[in-house]
Amino acid sequence: MATLLKAAPISQQIVDDLTEECSNLKKKGCTPNLKVILVGEHPPSVIYTRNKKKFMENIGAECEIIKLPQDVKEDEFLKIINELSEDAKVHGLFVQLPLPKHLDHIDVGQLVPPQKDVDGFHAQNLYQLMKGDKGDKALLPCTPKGIMSMLDYADIDLNGKNVVVIGRSMIVGKPLSLLMTNANATVTLCHSRTKGLKKETQKADIIVAAIGKAKFIDSSFLSPQKDQVLIDVGINHDENGKLCGDINEEDVSQSCALLTPVPGGVGKMTIVSLGQNLVAAAKRQMEN
Ligand code: GUN
Repeated sequence: MATLLKAAPISQQIVDDLTEECSNLKKKGCTPNLKVILVGEHPPSVIYTRNKKKFMENIGAECEIIKLPQDVKEDEFLKIINELSEDAKVHGLFVQLPLPKHLDHIDVGQLVPPQKDVDGFHAQNLYQLMKGDKGDKALLPCTPKGIMSMLDYADIDLNGKNVVVIGRSMIVGKPLSLLMTNANATVTLCHSRTKGLKKETQKADIIVAAIGKAKFIDSSFLSPQKDQVLIDVGINHDENGKLCGDINEEDVSQSCALLTPVPGGVGKMTIVSLGQNLVAAAKRQMEN
């Protein structure tokens, strides 16, 4: 039976560390300050931004949600981002995606200056990742960073491990592949056009599923001879409307060693990583 690697104890440990760091920064006259831009009232985005504010305030940081109307003019939107980019009291700037149609041609990752880019989307941050950074120089994309925190907590050393990442998105698959490569894993990045996916996953020590298909990975993708670690990045709904991941948890639980659950796994770590990025950004800006 697989061990469940849950986010709660990992998140709690990081929250405690961040609370202490915020308190120390405050004593030096610097309260980490995040501005979240929310355009329109896309219901999941309203919930996500509210959760971010709650999390940041809980660790002792400041967070303001700047709500802009759905039909905000592009000029006005860019003016607000520019003002916040130049405001020395603002350490982190997060534009909640998706943006409405008339704004979605804007490359938000390039708009937010790299030192305030708590999403880790800016080319300068991604370039550091390409160069081998493990997060010492760059602000890392939040979900990959959260996955690395989970593996670290579970004492899983990536050195020499075979990792299969399924999904090549800018937010998860590609940056995670680089991060794991930087940690000396041998990474195979698979996607919808990969031929012989099962052959790849059966060889892996660690499988990361970032596919977006409910319960796609079942025991037929695994190798019973190996103690495989399964990381589930999916957030889907099953045929009964219940939240589930990309991995069929019930089916694989006898065939793998460790598994992150959905809900209560990787998804919960993303906001924790955002908190870490904000505190790192505040520290770096204070030192410069
Ligand atoms: N909306 C859903 N996921 C994300 C994310 O990772 N970053 C931003 N900015 N918006 C999102």
